[in-house]
Amino acid sequence: MSSSHDLLLDVRGLTVRFPTPDGVVQAVSDVSFTLSRGETLGVVGESGSGKSVSNLAIMGLLNQQRTAISGEVEFMGRNLLTLPPDELRKIRGKDIAMVFQDPFACLHPMYRVGWQIAEAVTAHASVGKKAAWARAVELLDHVGIPNAKSRARDFPHQFSGGMRQRAMIAMALVHNPSILICDEPTTALDVTVQAQILELIEAVKREFDIGVILVTHDLGVIAETATTVMVMYAGRIMEYGPAQQIFERPQHPYAWGLLDSMPSVEKRLSALVPIEGAPPSLLSPPSGCPFHPRCRYRFEPCPTERPPLAVPTQAPDAHADACHLSWEAKQREGGKRSIARLGDAA
Ligand SMILES: Nc1ncnc2c1ncn2[C@@H]1O[C@H](COP(=O)(O)OP(=O)(O)OP(=O)(O)O)[C@@H](O)[C@H]1O
Ligand SMILES: [Mg+2]
Repeated sequence: MSSSHDLLLDVRGLTVRFPTPDGVVQAVSDVSFTLSRGETLGVVGESGSGKSVSNLAIMGLLNQQRTAISGEVEFMGRNLLTLPPDELRKIRGKDIAMVFQDPFACLHPMYRVGWQIAEAVTAHASVGKKAAWARAVELLDHVGIPNAKSRARDFPHQFSGGMRQRAMIAMALVHNPSILICDEPTTALDVTVQAQILELIEAVKREFDIGVILVTHDLGVIAETATTVMVMYAGRIMEYGPAQQIFERPQHPYAWGLLDSMPSVEKRLSALVPIEGAPPSLLSPPSGCPFHPRCRYRFEPCPTERPPLAVPTQAPDAHADACHLSWEAKQREGGKRSIARLGDAA
């Protein structure tokens, strides 16, 4: 059971707009969620659904001059969105660390991997060079780099893709963060290595007793490790709740679409059904429910009335979705998509 002191992050009504020459891009609209210690929040949605922008906003990594951000991001009782830049810098990379898809975006090709981690060690703490190097080796060893002592002297290109991602995780752990945000951490890796990195993230979560936000466009990536799932589309939350419930009985047609297009053991022999069409431009998102133009289940209210994200009134034990369909329809269609996860059998 999580108690209130386990609450790490409380995001309320996060909204991000980019003014562009073509108009305002409404990248994130009214996004609210929490993250607690021990939780792995899986954020899933197609390309352009606002997953990365939400996390960049939380980290304070969006250009303030060219972005309009509103809402609240409460971390340890403080709203990160109104914190002075120097205060925010103390939190970013220290209490909240981030791992990106492309390690080369963060690892400098000309410096030894161990040296770069040692640099990160000295950035927030007054530690001598020798001690920082020792800590870097220790962290590399901790994230499963074999012969860490000698491999620390390697340059990034001497590491395999999986090892580079491990090094990025080591770098993120330098200051014992309480939140680790991983944005598509395994997209560039082959399936076997992907599974190893996901395992490492889980192990790190348990050992360091932190909260993890795991962003992906692939439901398969979060199927085994997420404890909570947030499904995003066109900058909005379509469905949000405990992972077990969402994989057992997804309630939103967009989540059904994602599941129908996902290869799984049960479906290996039947055809995968991709969601027809493409996500909308966020310069002029559709009226009503943003998913209605692509939705096989749409009916009268969908093109004009935007359904609020809410728990169905008939089913208070269910989780929140933003869809006009009746609870009966959600139950019936959701039940057909039920996915058995390894951990759920017990
Ligand atoms: N600096 C920017 N200026 C204008 N629009 C932007 C900017 N950054 C992102 N966007 C737009 O915001 C929307 C959300 O982008 P975001 O990167 O969060 O998507 P995503 O869900 O992370 O997608 P992907 O799976 O491709 O990483 C997209 O429509 C994108 O084009
Ligand atoms: Mg992204």
